[in-house]
Amino acid sequence: GDLSGGCPYNHESKSRSLLGRQNKDWWPESLPVDVLTQGGLSPDPMGSDFDYAEAFNALDYQALKNDLTALMTDSKPWWPADYGHYGPFMIRMAWHAAGTYRTADGRGGSNSGQQRFAPLNSWPDNGNLDKARRLLWPIKQKYGKNISWADLFILAGNVAIESMGGPVFGFGGGRRDVFEPERDIYWGQEENWVQGDETRIQPDREMDLENPLAAIQMGLIYVNPEGPGGNPDPLQSARDIKITFERMAMNHEETVALTAGGHTFGKAHGAGDPSHVGDAPEGADIAMMGLGWTSTHESGMGEHTITSGIEGAWVNTPTEWSENYFRLLLDYEYELVRSPAGAQQWQPINQKPEDMAPAAHDPSIRVPTMMTTADMALKVDPEFRKISEKFRNDHEAFKDAFARAWFKLCHRDMGPKIRYLGPEVPAEDLIWQDPIPEGTKPSDADIAAFKDKILGAGFSVGQLVKAAWASASTYRRSDHRGGANGARIRLEPQRGWTVNEPEELGAILAKIEELRGNLSVADAIVLAGTAAVEKAARDAGFDVTVPFEGGRGDASQEQTDADSFDVLEPMADAFRNYLKTKHSVRTEELMIDRAALLGLSVPEMTVLVGGLRVLGATFQNRKEGVFTNRVGQLTNDFFVNLLDNETFWEVVDTSADEEFIGYTRGGRQEKWRATRTDLIFGSNSQLRATAEVYAEKGNEELFVRHFVAAWTKVMNADRFDLLPTRKVS
Ligand code: HEM
Repeated sequence: GDLSGGCPYNHESKSRSLLGRQNKDWWPESLPVDVLTQGGLSPDPMGSDFDYAEAFNALDYQALKNDLTALMTDSKPWWPADYGHYGPFMIRMAWHAAGTYRTADGRGGSNSGQQRFAPLNSWPDNGNLDKARRLLWPIKQKYGKNISWADLFILAGNVAIESMGGPVFGFGGGRRDVFEPERDIYWGQEENWVQGDETRIQPDREMDLENPLAAIQMGLIYVNPEGPGGNPDPLQSARDIKITFERMAMNHEETVALTAGGHTFGKAHGAGDPSHVGDAPEGADIAMMGLGWTSTHESGMGEHTITSGIEGAWVNTPTEWSENYFRLLLDYEYELVRSPAGAQQWQPINQKPEDMAPAAHDPSIRVPTMMTTADMALKVDPEFRKISEKFRNDHEAFKDAFARAWFKLCHRDMGPKIRYLGPEVPAEDLIWQDPIPEGTKPSDADIAAFKDKILGAGFSVGQLVKAAWASASTYRRSDHRGGANGARIRLEPQRGWTVNEPEELGAILAKIEELRGNLSVADAIVLAGTAAVEKAARDAGFDVTVPFEGGRGDASQEQTDADSFDVLEPMADAFRNYLKTKHSVRTEELMIDRAALLGLSVPEMTVLVGGLRVLGATFQNRKEGVFTNRVGQLTNDFFVNLLDNETFWEVVDTSADEEFIGYTRGGRQEKWRATRTDLIFGSNSQLRATAEVYAEKGNEELFVRHFVAAWTKVMNADRFDLLPTRKVS
């Protein structure tokens, strides 16, 4: 089945809140620093005019890489490096930074440095990575604003691989740090993390991991290494690995390459009873200074470290790139044993001494290697087995697959390649980067001519606005995918999405193609909508210019991985008053989610919904929410009529609770129809306060100006080419 896509909000019709469990639920006592962000005060000490791209471009990149390389073998007594090399530890840190990415909503991933904050800094699966980040601090401090934490995590992983002789495909910088925990991400609704044997996939059922989640249990990046719910069954583990890695945009070959390549390095840590391990960083004692998992088992570090509870290296050469992972995995039979921490793991039967690993802190001792149940999945699952054998027999293919999959893992959430910075950006275009050919800026004359023609082509304002909106509004700032650039709205799968009303859209696109002259299709679609907004404002008595920035390119179908675009299909679009089916999350929460992905503020979301309604830009021209008698004019009628005391509302169908009728008081005469996403602007106190501003006398022009600004923001949301320092030579 389709594992990578699917609706993020549907799960057995159980209802849930948009955000599930949040930091406040887990750490009710943590300091409420976010109080100081009230009133729109930014927690970012660098300020909004800080240009990270410019700072990164001024970085002495080679000096930084040299320092990172030196760090790898500079073992510190407060957290001694296994085998005298921090490389494997840094790879795990980078992998866990990137591995939270999920395709369904594009959230998670490494691109904002979230591993520094709760809950990720304290997830059980991120155990002891606080030390990896702390080891990096002197380097972060030295290079300061020129390298973000987010970039540093990934670059440290890359340098680690290189320093151990492993293959890398490249590095792109450009991940700007944020300074607060993400507040818009759903991590699940369970009360507990990775506890007991309760997992998100029921063993007796196929593939029903709740979307958008990409981990099998709360607090894991992906799967339980000991097997589903701790059950050491490699086949069931294979099922979990497949579904979680697909949610991370990895196919099965990439999954095998990544895991095998990763476990070519380093070791697992389970030296003793896990009950010796203290609180995770977010709940730890103040004197710990942000570190956690203090262990009272012997020295609590080095040979006594307890992290996952599993103990041992995968291969005999844990700090060198090699062919040993597949050799040991496939050549040996394995038996189930327990680590000193009590974890279930697999040990080679009759292991030859030369295949044993050095002890991590005493090379004179040799110890058996191990495989986790998840590694055994690569041996036991028939499909994984085939891939493992292929890679075993063709090491070059394995190297290439690992390097590419690692690059994808670490860059999947960065959006188009134009956002990558630095001297190691690979020249090759990769399909998952959603490549778009460079566009050219149209002349003012071309723009003016097209506007005239398209406005005279017989389409309504609502139709043109809807086409532009459909094109631009797929943008999500979570992973910077989607948007109007590339004109992928005319390609599969987008042109066929129900929300886009394929038939009507097809007619508009055909006309745009015919009339566009020198404009790219992508520009022409946006310009058609923009011209319609301008006309609508003019017809309402406001002579405004709606800004238009040309220069978009047109992608081809070959440049478009259609499957990977499925996840961008809106399941709801409050802006067009569209709801595909009822979801487990309330429709108005879906509106907030979409607005958050578009990067909209409360007033921007409000003004767009109200404005698009009166322009008639509703799905199938439905009447719900169109509170005006002059459709197609950019007026504040939506807000005026919504807040009219002389109207009262009743639900049409109580069980659905989605549609409403507005009656005139007394007469009980039907006046308007509305959906939840219309009424919420009168019913929610905060949205109502905003709607009131746009309904007030004297604010008619303010409304128009705000609408135009918000419209322009959405149309240009993906125009990274307009940011001067984004370009890499
Ligand atoms: C370590 C599980 C995939 C790289 C570990 C550990 C576990 C684990 C249990 C030991 C942690 C500790 O106790 O210190 C898994 C599972 C995976 C997976 C279940 C997927 C099914 C990957 C991937 C990579 C990776 C994709 C990187 C490409 C590493 C490295 C270490 C490690 C380098 C060693 C860290 C060190 O030496 O400190 N993994 N892993 N793993 N993992 Fe994975």
